[in-house]
Amino acid sequence: YKNLLGLRDLSAEEIQEILTTAHLMRPVMESPNKKITYLMGKNILTLFYESSTRTRVSFELAAKYLGATTTNVSVATSSVNKGESLIDTVRTLQSMGVDIVIMRHPMTGAPKLLADHIEAKVINAGDGINEHPTQALLDLYTIERHKGRIKDLKVVIAGDILHSRVARSNIWGLTKMGARVVVAGPSTLIPKKIEKMGVEVFQDIKKAVVDADVVMALRMQKERQESGLFPSLREYQHYFGIDEGVLSYAKPEVLLMHPGPVNRGIEITSDIMEGPHSTIEEQVTNGVAIRMALLYLMTRGGDKQ
Ligand code: CP
Repeated sequence: YKNLLGLRDLSAEEIQEILTTAHLMRPVMESPNKKITYLMGKNILTLFYESSTRTRVSFELAAKYLGATTTNVSVATSSVNKGESLIDTVRTLQSMGVDIVIMRHPMTGAPKLLADHIEAKVINAGDGINEHPTQALLDLYTIERHKGRIKDLKVVIAGDILHSRVARSNIWGLTKMGARVVVAGPSTLIPKKIEKMGVEVFQDIKKAVVDADVVMALRMQKERQESGLFPSLREYQHYFGIDEGVLSYAKPEVLLMHPGPVNRGIEITSDIMEGPHSTIEEQVTNGVAIRMALLYLMTRGGDKQ
């Protein structure tokens, strides 16, 4: 793998290879010593132009467990603040010998732009409203670990689909792996023509959730909802918030997922967030295994995109 820019670019076989490799990484992640030397001598850079807790830290841990050196560039205190462009910034860092750049950026396509201009490999850690491929991979891995498969499962993605790179990457990944994907949310937060991505659309959350194997709630991204067309958090919670009652329409063994961070009591209630169906904490743990798998696959040789 040269770069990981989105799940749109990957085949089902490639996705499965990453999930299987993540499973092989678990013994390392779970051992008391943790460290192995697959990535000894590799320099991995995290460059985040937007806030992150889970993605940045889990990439750093994954790289360290595999023996790599990691550096985090804090955009707020770097020369980006003096107006240095994205490509000049990364070229400067590449001159110090960087092998993989992990980047989050508010602009759709920024990781692709970077990948086209530098020799180092690039992993997209979230670009605008486009894709967040490692989040979707860890979600797929979590589903596979619980259900033993992804094919033919009914997966409901609920909330602010319009602004969600997590939704887009999950739709690509889930449909490629053969799941039935349903999206649900307020009409102004559902992209037009989303059916072309192979999903069904519901505006009634209870109807959407009937017989679901997985319910994935998304964060209401108020920071991206600029116009007055969108519901307030209170309105959203009233019509689309997921509680025990909504979840009861799903299959008894339903998984309740959320990529985090959660607006507690808005997208989902606190009790189900911490209840038996919730995989929210496990998703974070699985993110380390997925990111170890990716770093391993991307550095073991070969030049496949
Ligand atoms: N899910 C996710 O991307 O979380 P962070 O913004 O904390 O990285």
